[in-house]
Amino acid sequence: MFTAIEELFKEDRIGEIVRVRGWIYRTRSSGGIAFIVLRDSSGTVQVTVKKGNLPENQFNDARKALIESSVEIEGEIAEDKRAPGGIEIRASGFHVVSFAEPFPITENQSEELLMDYRHLWIRSREMTAMLKVRSTVFGAVDEFFRSRGYYEFQAPTLTGSNCEGGSTQFEVKYFDRKAYLTQSWQLYAEAAIFSLEKIYDIAPSFRAEPSKTSRHLTEYWHAEMEVAWAHLDDVLKEAEGLISFICKTVAEKNAPELEIFGASPEDLLKITPPFPRVKYDDALKMLKDTGMDVPYGKDLRTLEEEKLSKMFDKPVFVTHYPEEIMAFYKPTDPEDLGKSLCFDLLATNGYGEIIGGSERETSIEVLKEKLIRDGEDPANYEWYMDLRKYGSVPHSGFGMGVERVVRWILGLDHIKDAIGFPRLRNRIYP
Ligand code: 4AD
Ligand code: MG
Repeated sequence: MFTAIEELFKEDRIGEIVRVRGWIYRTRSSGGIAFIVLRDSSGTVQVTVKKGNLPENQFNDARKALIESSVEIEGEIAEDKRAPGGIEIRASGFHVVSFAEPFPITENQSEELLMDYRHLWIRSREMTAMLKVRSTVFGAVDEFFRSRGYYEFQAPTLTGSNCEGGSTQFEVKYFDRKAYLTQSWQLYAEAAIFSLEKIYDIAPSFRAEPSKTSRHLTEYWHAEMEVAWAHLDDVLKEAEGLISFICKTVAEKNAPELEIFGASPEDLLKITPPFPRVKYDDALKMLKDTGMDVPYGKDLRTLEEEKLSKMFDKPVFVTHYPEEIMAFYKPTDPEDLGKSLCFDLLATNGYGEIIGGSERETSIEVLKEKLIRDGEDPANYEWYMDLRKYGSVPHSGFGMGVERVVRWILGLDHIKDAIGFPRLRNRIYP
């Protein structure tokens, strides 16, 4: 039986003999003693290996083993005021499972090298902490939706139609035809609500993003939801509910991980509904007051989103974007012609868009017009038009970029560090 390292610190266990296993995080030896910091997925602990307390060959192995060697250690838990957490293990057994070669990652490495060795870098303290938070976020999304009666519904990854515009589609060879990697689960979800009414999913979405930015991946995890009978206001409430639930769950489960990034649970607990809402037109006015002149009909760029989100201490909804710059499925507001019943949710502190969503157009005529406007062939969307022919209902939904949320919660400079193996324009290895 092996004890998880975090368990060693949980109660007074001084004097107990335990077995632990993991990887050497730090090591140094002087004379007859080796000081080792051992890590496992739960934490780190100091181990002292003293000549004479264990068989000679095991002592020699402990001195010899380089960092990242995998080891099993037996020893007594002893008090040591200078050690982190106030305890250490005094080894009476030291078994090297695999001697590591000199580890290629040392301190102060370039970003490029860390990316080349991503397969090894994900063992780092920062990456491990991020991956734990990320896992919490995935769990929270499931819990939020399932506890509200949503079903999980899966859509294909290979598709023939596109959802968010042809310019960012990845084309793949599909036998003797062309197919695309999905940009969004949405169009298929719009079919499935006629069966399940309230659905959600978390799956990869793909975007052939032409530019290098700190918030675009070419493959990202997309948490999406779609609801029959729902209007814009209904999904705005679900979006703010989801984001606050994620923040609360991370605050409760990941305090030690947050600390590594200098983030605080208290700040996350302040992210509570309702979130402020501004219409696109008002957003332009607010930006103008700060000297940023966005011509009407232009989408908000990173810079403008950043500025805007810094004006609020909670995430802010920007609604009613001009319909000419919106995807074909976003309907016009009958009370605000020319504006779409849509929203983006911008995170605090300048992190920009984390969710995008809308009501869905129900008129076949309008859908066709807008597809043609966007250079698409409506014939490819015939199945989608069918959904408007057989018991059409108002419906709405949204999509949340998981890495965008993780990046925001942890205050990461770049989205690449919010996922284990980021896919970027110039990076597909490892
Ligand atoms: O705003 P987007 O493009 O909206 C849709 O795809 C809708 N079909 C969603 C829906 O209504 N079901 O993307 C939704 C979210 C964005 O707000 C952003 O958080 C994230 O997906 N996102 C990206 N995240 C990382 N890298 C990229 N290249 C992203 N593109 C979008
Ligand atoms: Mg968007």
